[in-house]
Amino acid sequence: MTALTLSTAGAATLRADAIVVGVAKGARGPVVAPGAEAVDTAFDGKLAAVLETLGATGAEGEVTKLPSPSGIKAPVVLAVGLGTVPEQDHAFAAETLRRAAGTASRVLAGAKKAAFALPIEASEDAEAIAEGALLGAYAFTAYQSGDRKDAKAPLAEVALLGAKPRDKAYKAAAERALAVTEELNRARDLINTPPNGLTPEIFANLAAAAGKEHGLKVQILDEKALVKGGFGGIAGVGQGSENPPRLVKLTYTHSKDAKTLALVGKGITYDSGGISLKPAGHNETMKCDMSGAAAVFAAVIAVARLGLAVNVTGWLALAENMPSGTAIRPGDVLRMYSGKTVEVLNTDAEGRLVLADALWKASEEKPDAIVDVATLTGAMVVALGNRTFGVMSNDEAFRTAIHETAEEVGEQSWPMPLPADLRKGMDSPTADIANMGERMGGGLVAGLFLQEFVGEGITWAHLDIAGPAFHESAPFGYTPKGGTGSSVRTLVRLAERIAAGDLG
Ligand code: BES
Ligand code: MN
Ligand code: ZN
Repeated sequence: MTALTLSTAGAATLRADAIVVGVAKGARGPVVAPGAEAVDTAFDGKLAAVLETLGATGAEGEVTKLPSPSGIKAPVVLAVGLGTVPEQDHAFAAETLRRAAGTASRVLAGAKKAAFALPIEASEDAEAIAEGALLGAYAFTAYQSGDRKDAKAPLAEVALLGAKPRDKAYKAAAERALAVTEELNRARDLINTPPNGLTPEIFANLAAAAGKEHGLKVQILDEKALVKGGFGGIAGVGQGSENPPRLVKLTYTHSKDAKTLALVGKGITYDSGGISLKPAGHNETMKCDMSGAAAVFAAVIAVARLGLAVNVTGWLALAENMPSGTAIRPGDVLRMYSGKTVEVLNTDAEGRLVLADALWKASEEKPDAIVDVATLTGAMVVALGNRTFGVMSNDEAFRTAIHETAEEVGEQSWPMPLPADLRKGMDSPTADIANMGERMGGGLVAGLFLQEFVGEGITWAHLDIAGPAFHESAPFGYTPKGGTGSSVRTLVRLAERIAAGDLG
């Protein structure tokens, strides 16, 4: 785990393996960003010119490594691009700082300590830089050995210069950044863990241990309890696997008077498609199909660590979707926890089945709002691409609020509709509803299915994170290859907004 310190040391005197400075795109070439004045002085005020000679422009994502001149203790100066210089009286956007810091941490993997001398005007800037630096300092090496593992070791220490260590707002910002990023990185670990290393049972036990460590109430329903309790969706999806399903409930209670937010996560530890088997090329990354549950888990623990004034329950619907002689078949009818029957037309539409039970269970407690998170449909990836999650809701104001909350924390999302006309595609001759409908608008069809399992009158939103949950191309900013921790920051900020009385 990476340590975070707010340092009062000068950029020149601080001992570190590297000092990170910002370079922006000015009208006439690169400009050194505020925060790096002392470093620039050590270059006789010619840092921008040196950077330009080396080809730097200040574009976002750009990195330039250069040896330090005498007068700077750290042997390396790392200049990260911040994009166009903001207009007068404007600061750099938080997400720009977050990404630049993340890029720096990634490039510095293998080093021990980095000092960040990026522009800080307020505690929010320090928080964004800390978040980016700590999220960029992430590597999943649990299954690697030797030199390769060492070379990728994330930074052991991130020191922020220009933050005020004795100022309350800065202290709180650092604390929040640590809590959120440590839990988010833990979610990434879970997502990246191969499916033979993370079964529903193992996930449930990990959640129980972490929950207890942070003073949460933890309840687990095992496969017997699920069958006995009538959870036909979770038990059904799980029945084809040697690794039986679980439903985990994590409860963080602040007080009786506080609002209650229920979070529900899709936790398919491996999605083979079941009897409707996915073809090769579509199942290699399906260890990521528990990203929703990982996000919910991380968010609940982060909320508890921050002691937010809101009650939060986290529901992890955990199962492995496998084909076997005991697996559900296309054509089977399941009786769900809500009492509704579902004709399973495609066993690969399993996420909605486990979520339906968890949503109905969560609804019984009449929370003020329910948000579910799921890698639910390939259709949402087709619609919104690999970096944006879809937001659907039975309440337009809530949908807007979530979209805006995501934007505030630097996550890309987009509001999507739940068109009533798509419901008839799920009409079943045998059961109350089928688990599949029209192919076109498949992400919305899935949302409409879920909506039927939300208790009457409860505000609900559904985040389909199938696109951004797992990053397969080159890393960028603070986003590594593999599990990203998509939606964790949105969920935590949403809890904070509810705690602050910002929402309804
Ligand atoms: N886990 C998948 C969705 C998915 C696809 C997640 C790509 C991440 C990346 C889900 O269980 C699934 O298989 N959905 C089907 C539903 C269809 C059979 C109605 C899909 O989207 O093809
Ligand atoms: Mn599936
Ligand atoms: Zn799935």
